[in-house]
This record gives sequence, C-alpha cells and structure tokens, in this order.
Amino acid sequence: MDFLTSEIINKAAEFLQEKFPVSPKVGMILGSGLGPFADAVENSVQVMGKQVPGWPESTVEGHVGRLVCGTLEGVPVFVMQGRSHYYEGHEMTRLGLPVRVMQKLGAEYLFVTNAAGAVNPNYKAGSLMILNDHINLLGMAGVNPLRGPNLDEFGPRFPDMSRPYDKELIKFAHNAASDAGVSCHEGVYICLAGPSYETPADLRFLRMIGVDAVGMSTVPEVIVARHGGMKVLGISGISNKANLDGSTITTHEEVMEAGRVIVPKLTSILRGVLKRL
Ligand code: HPA
Repeated sequence: MDFLTSEIINKAAEFLQEKFPVSPKVGMILGSGLGPFADAVENSVQVMGKQVPGWPESTVEGHVGRLVCGTLEGVPVFVMQGRSHYYEGHEMTRLGLPVRVMQKLGAEYLFVTNAAGAVNPNYKAGSLMILNDHINLLGMAGVNPLRGPNLDEFGPRFPDMSRPYDKELIKFAHNAASDAGVSCHEGVYICLAGPSYETPADLRFLRMIGVDAVGMSTVPEVIVARHGGMKVLGISGISNKANLDGSTITTHEEVMEAGRVIVPKLTSILRGVLKRL
C-alpha cells in the first residue's frame, strides 16, 4: 500500500521550500477549467508538480499541474493550478500529499475549488456554490486518504469532521460575492470516484441523500486539511445541470467551457476573502 510517511512529505516540502519566495499562508487548489485564476498571483515562482518528488501527477485536460507561489491581495499563497484525482490511478492516500506539503510550508488555510454537476434542480450551469458540508461516500466504503498509520505530528487518529468548512470563511465568501455582485448558492458536495459521469438513477439517489452538487475531487483534500487543523473554504463552479431524467448528456468540453464563465466570478470572491483574512 502507498501510505504517506513523514519522509515522503518532508522530501517534497524541502524541494519546494528551496524554490518558493514566501512561506504560504493560504493553499489553493483549482479545479477543472479554473486554472487561469493562478495568472493573478504576483511575484510568482512556478514549479511543475511532476518535478516534485512523490507528487501525484495530473494527467487531465484543464489541469496543467503547475504550482504557483507568490502573493495575492498581499497574502502569501501557494496555488495548485490543477489537481490529481483518484480515477487517474493514484492511491487515495497519495492524493493527500499536496495538502500535507502546504501544511509543512506553514499554510493555515485551504481554499479548494472544483467543477461540479448540479444535482439541486435550482442550480444553473455557470453558477457557484459555497460548500457548507460534504458527503464522503468513498470514505464510507473504506477509501479514506487518512488510511494507514496515523501521522501524529499533523493530527489525531480519529479527527473530528463536524465542521469541515469554516463558518467565518463561508461568511467572508458570501460578503465578497455580494460586494462583487455575484450570486452564490450554499450547499452539500459529494465526491464520487469517476471517471464515468452519473446515470439518471445515480443522480436521483444523490438528490435523495441530500446532495446539491457532484464531482470527483475535493473531499479527500478537505479531510487531510482538517486532520492537520487547517481552516477550509470550498467553492464549486457549477459546470453542468445533472441529468436526472436522462434528457441531456454530460461532456468534459461543457465542463471546461463553463470554467470560462466561472473564473471571473471565482476570482472576485477569492480575492475578496483574502482581503478579509
Ligand atoms: N458529475 C461528476 N463530476 C463532475 C460533473 C458531473 O456532472 N461535472 C463536473 N464534474
């Protein structure tokens, strides 16, 4: 099994520490099609993830796999332009490495974004949802990023998950959205393994158990972040209407296209939250 160890984490963290100009206060992970946000980072140093020892490589279009460190709104940030997913073949435990490295480099906050399908029938493509909770369906089935020997230096064996998303950050995000004139939903996200999208029956099941938006990421990263005591903000860019009655199809192209509409809105919200930290 590919459990994360302190040696693996330290090696990756030391590699980046030598290259990065600042110690990040905020780690950010940008989802499908949302990568262009990283262009806003000032005085940045960029490193490709695949250069970093042990880094889970990103192979999907829309996830360039670049790590950008610099400042935004005067706050030192470490931005991952694209992420890796379970469906690419990585062990769930390995997907926790980037967040562990952020923690080692000193980040106190994780801002995580993703592209997601709307399960809530009131959500439209191009809108945004601030996460107020998630369902860890894969974890319930045994696939948890914290599986294996506990890393006591980061957190306890049985970490609390009663507050996965920080209430104050949620408030900041709503305030930043209203300042920018952007309307924002708030709801529950679920991570499925993918890469196949959901059947109409899958989606009716998800709606029944209380899901608002569905994707293939984020939850593993948030669990590792919370285990290590980071405060988390999660935002989904709603890229497509879920197909509850089978009348439409879902494609990666439409997910990428929606990203272009979502990036400017997401940029103003994330900048607004950084200003409020
Ligand atoms: N389902 C799962 N993941 C997704 C979707 C979806 O409809 N859209 C973007 N990521």
